[in-house]
Amino acid sequence: EVIIVDTPAAAGEWVAQRISALVAGKPDAVLGLATGSTPLPVYAALERRVREEGLNLGHVRGFALDEYVGLPAEHPESYRSVIRRDVVERLGMNAELVCVPNGDRDGINTAGERYEADIRAAGGVDIQILGVGTSGHIGFNEPGSSLNSDTRVKALTEQTRRDNARFFPSIDEVPTHALTQGVGTILRAKHLVLLAFGAAKAEILAECVEGPVTASVPGSAVQLHRHVSVVVDEAAATHLR
Ligand code: F6R
Repeated sequence: EVIIVDTPAAAGEWVAQRISALVAGKPDAVLGLATGSTPLPVYAALERRVREEGLNLGHVRGFALDEYVGLPAEHPESYRSVIRRDVVERLGMNAELVCVPNGDRDGINTAGERYEADIRAAGGVDIQILGVGTSGHIGFNEPGSSLNSDTRVKALTEQTRRDNARFFPSIDEVPTHALTQGVGTILRAKHLVLLAFGAAKAEILAECVEGPVTASVPGSAVQLHRHVSVVVDEAAATHLR
């Protein structure tokens, strides 16, 4: 299903409604958490429901999509910091129930396998929130990623490093690699919610949703999933047929 809404805030409400309904029936539901700008309206809408409507996310488990390799956990832009700040603390989640891949260089060769085992032990992800990069990546699965991949280290493209340089003092400080859930990992979630806002995402969104399924556009793999909601604003929808 493709849902075109007026504003990112309306998209946030749409997704928050789905998550609230899930959690009402399954208080220990498992959410797949994205970072970056795209999911922020979802977290804002959830925060309002927690504050004003008594939504309780305290038993919900969470798995982040990815983490930079070699950025210390306490760095303000590590996804461990971002998830703690923007998600766990704001939404009243239990930090012990929310996992982020461990991007420390020490143990990086086995970190992917361990993350896959943790997701399996939790029973898999119920709703996976996804943004898409202008390179076509989901998670940090850059073009050329196997559509069957598991969590592993990927090199970031120059384009992705430029896109994410806004979070760092300079592009030189953007890490070159990330530990990311694989495309296969993402496809094992029960429900995918792909979000995109703004004209800069219009072309790549159309490739993901309507183009050929190809490792050159890892986001196109969502077409292989049986339950995908694509929630976009008008600007991001302009290239859809
Ligand atoms: C974030 C992630 C990335 C972003 C993508 C879009 O955890 O895995 O795939 O969703 O880079 O980033 P924004 O939302 O900042 O445009």
